[in-house]
Amino acid sequence: TGAMKIGVAGLGTVGGGLCRLIETNGSLLAQRCGRSLLVSAVSARDRRKDRGLSLEGARWYEDPVSLAKDPELDVVVELIGGSEGVAYEVVATALSAGKHVVTANKALIAHHGTALARIAEEKGVTLAYEGAVAGGIPAIKTLREGLAGNRVTRVQGILNGTCNYILTTMRETGREFGEVLDEAQKLGYAEADPSFDVDGVDAAHKLAIITALAFGCEVDFDAIQVEGIRRVSAIDIAYAEELGFRIKLLGIAQRRNGAIEQRVHPCMVPKSAPIASVEGVFNAVHAEGDFVGRIMIEGAGAGERPTASAVAADLLDIARGAQLPTFGISATALESLPTLPMAEH
Ligand code: HSE
Repeated sequence: TGAMKIGVAGLGTVGGGLCRLIETNGSLLAQRCGRSLLVSAVSARDRRKDRGLSLEGARWYEDPVSLAKDPELDVVVELIGGSEGVAYEVVATALSAGKHVVTANKALIAHHGTALARIAEEKGVTLAYEGAVAGGIPAIKTLREGLAGNRVTRVQGILNGTCNYILTTMRETGREFGEVLDEAQKLGYAEADPSFDVDGVDAAHKLAIITALAFGCEVDFDAIQVEGIRRVSAIDIAYAEELGFRIKLLGIAQRRNGAIEQRVHPCMVPKSAPIASVEGVFNAVHAEGDFVGRIMIEGAGAGERPTASAVAADLLDIARGAQLPTFGISATALESLPTLPMAEH
């Protein structure tokens, strides 16, 4: 097999990071999968912008949907973002054309994951999205592959770095939410619409995906009860601290009374719990399985290099010919299963 030809749609933070990763670690990746990874097409809004990338020999597309149709590409990497519009069109077009797709787009997978997984399955290609959840932490692989032998009973996570940074800084400095928000946005982790961060929507996008993997059900974003951190005050945090707790924005999914309950809201976590010590922009995913017991993975939940690391791992899987069902269970099998009801809220 020759080089795997990759088209990168979107050269922002993550797209640039991915190109740099491939430039830096290209020979290592080639050793690991037995073929080279070649960025052979890219698309971005402004061609003249200096991104510090060589992109030698890569075809340029103004229109990412045209890139998605490029017959020479084996894989399309969607790093545009947004759940509707062009990102959806790029992914659906590439899958329908029989190309593998890697995306870091949590909103897209949270809203359209089931439908897109069906197209991927019909076409016999892979739809991979490790970078969509918790940045550099291999949360998807851990749930889909690492815990594949378990019945998972509960998953919880710190899934938004911006909120965790705000809560950490409020605790350390005693300042109020509004004062710390600007600072958090300057870190460059915040969503284009920062209300997605502070109102819990971004964490809910990630939770919906985690739930589908952990419990073998369809992605159901609308079933999540969501509350963000706007109403947490410095005094709440100080009192919690005095009582031996930290306030964390958690995404929680668990089996309860024969249904799956999914919620995102600020929680009081005992300081002794491992998740309480996850501070700043870090994310964590904690899972409980019937055989493995409890596990927790922690690391950078966003940013150029960590997210590029996750996208590269997906590309390696594809280059090696791994055929992993999108949500750990084939779309056809999922349809024939009795549906797990989602808890009302
Ligand atoms: N806005 C997100 C965060 C970025 O703050 O965690 C990663 O999805």
